[in-house]
Amino acid sequence: MTVAACVVRGKQPVWAERMSLPKEVMRVENLQETNLYYARYGSGTPMVLLHGYPLDHSVWEPVVPLLSAQYDLIAPDLRGFGRTRAIEDSCTVYEMASDIVHLLDRLELGSVYIAGHSMGGYISLALIDHWPERVSGLALVASKVMSDDLVTRKNRYAVIEQIKNSGVEIVARSMPARLTQDTALRIKIASLIRDQSSQGLICAQTAMAERPDFSKMFSSIRIPVVVIAGSEDSIVPVAAVEKMAGLNSRARLSVVKEAGHMPMMEDPETTAAGLIALTEKDPSK
Ligand code: MLT
Repeated sequence: MTVAACVVRGKQPVWAERMSLPKEVMRVENLQETNLYYARYGSGTPMVLLHGYPLDHSVWEPVVPLLSAQYDLIAPDLRGFGRTRAIEDSCTVYEMASDIVHLLDRLELGSVYIAGHSMGGYISLALIDHWPERVSGLALVASKVMSDDLVTRKNRYAVIEQIKNSGVEIVARSMPARLTQDTALRIKIASLIRDQSSQGLICAQTAMAERPDFSKMFSSIRIPVVVIAGSEDSIVPVAAVEKMAGLNSRARLSVVKEAGHMPMMEDPETTAAGLIALTEKDPSK
């Protein structure tokens, strides 16, 4: 089986102008069966970084220089995002998780640490639900284990109709202000959203709307868990995250002060420290 590898060129990563990224080790490879692209940086303990909606792997770039000396970081573009195309108009969090399992198989990685940002967290939970043996530890970054309430679910289907009618532009205009208070970052995020496809956004919205409630499963998992929350997050409020962390006796909570829904971009240092804690022994346990 061949794996086509290429250094990322052409599209300028969101953070490239601000940070000196180790581009020579940043590769994107195309797995033929799944058409899944991923970036890989650094070396050491494998850690998979799953991005949120409606973004791509590049949201992790600010933490890469802080982690790459210690970790083999694998950051895929999830189904329908970045360079990975959507396969269908609808998908499930389990299908998105199975793409990651295929990737791990191809990379000959057994069990890995996984950090999931928001939607990436829902996919991490689906992965643990069906393939628990593949996950050594879980970091939920601005994410939650509960399923949607009826209002949120209904709203997702309204958003799907808007995207069908108006494309991704409507999301690029409305979403950045909900993600962060940082106006420069909002502009970068809007541009990143404009690079995504309508089909990918629709696919992800159906996956999120129909995802199950992972609360019970989360409370029973016995792997290391770190929960990272932005103190100003309006999408996943910190009070809800604190309550959620209480469901699992092994969960450690890190609140990133003055960050919104994008702590890995708003405060890479604190977020990276939380991810490093995941792989270190908890002194209190
Ligand atoms: C995300 O950031 O991935 C989404 O806002 C999550 C969601 O809509 O539930």
